[in-house]
Amino acid sequence: MKQIKLLGIAGSLRKKSTNQGLLRAAKAHLPEGVSMEIANLLDIPFYNADIAERPASVQRVLDQIKEADALVFACTEYNYSLAPALKNILDWASREPNNALLAGKSVAIMGAGGGMGSSRAQYHLRQVCVFLDLYPINKPEVFAQAMSASFDAEGNLIEERLIQLVTTQMEVLVAKVRNQHD
Ligand SMILES: Cc1cc2nc3c(=O)[nH]c(=O)nc-3n(C[C@H](O)[C@H](O)[C@H](O)COP(=O)(O)O)c2cc1C
Repeated sequence: MKQIKLLGIAGSLRKKSTNQGLLRAAKAHLPEGVSMEIANLLDIPFYNADIAERPASVQRVLDQIKEADALVFACTEYNYSLAPALKNILDWASREPNNALLAGKSVAIMGAGGGMGSSRAQYHLRQVCVFLDLYPINKPEVFAQAMSASFDAEGNLIEERLIQLVTTQMEVLVAKVRNQHD
């Protein structure tokens, strides 16, 4: 059975981020034969076409994207849309000739936000995926409430129902990737 590599990318940079917590939960509950890295976006500058050479930090994450069989986005919601850190790394990745880093890649989208669980931002992210030729799975959707007992003080996901949902989402994503490889 082929080993599957996933890359998790969260829109929030803060240490106690609940979206980072969702990614950690996903990483802790992967199907057999699957590994996951979580991208560090702390040192990624804003995309600027005047930067002639890709900074090493950007290259590091783009290499991780290239290596990944599929991507897992934890979609932080800022002001009814996806947070800039996530959009920014997608903007950098999209500059590769022929969109070679992203085109055709499968994606899972989860997120933690306010009362609507980052759903508004997630649907904006799905629109972005159309242009980038990324293929998000439809279901299950994962909408978590960041300021609730679903998370502990460190941003770790502790609600069993959501842990199960994230686990199922990873199973569906991996099944899709395995079907593509068969
Ligand atoms: C600038 C800013 C804008 C926000 N806008 C929204 C919003 O429109 N909708 C929402 O549900 N939550 C909003 N929030 C709350 C975040 O979803 C919440 O802080 C969440 O915990 C952020 O994710 P994190 O825990 O991964 O950092 C906003 C937070 C910030 C800092």
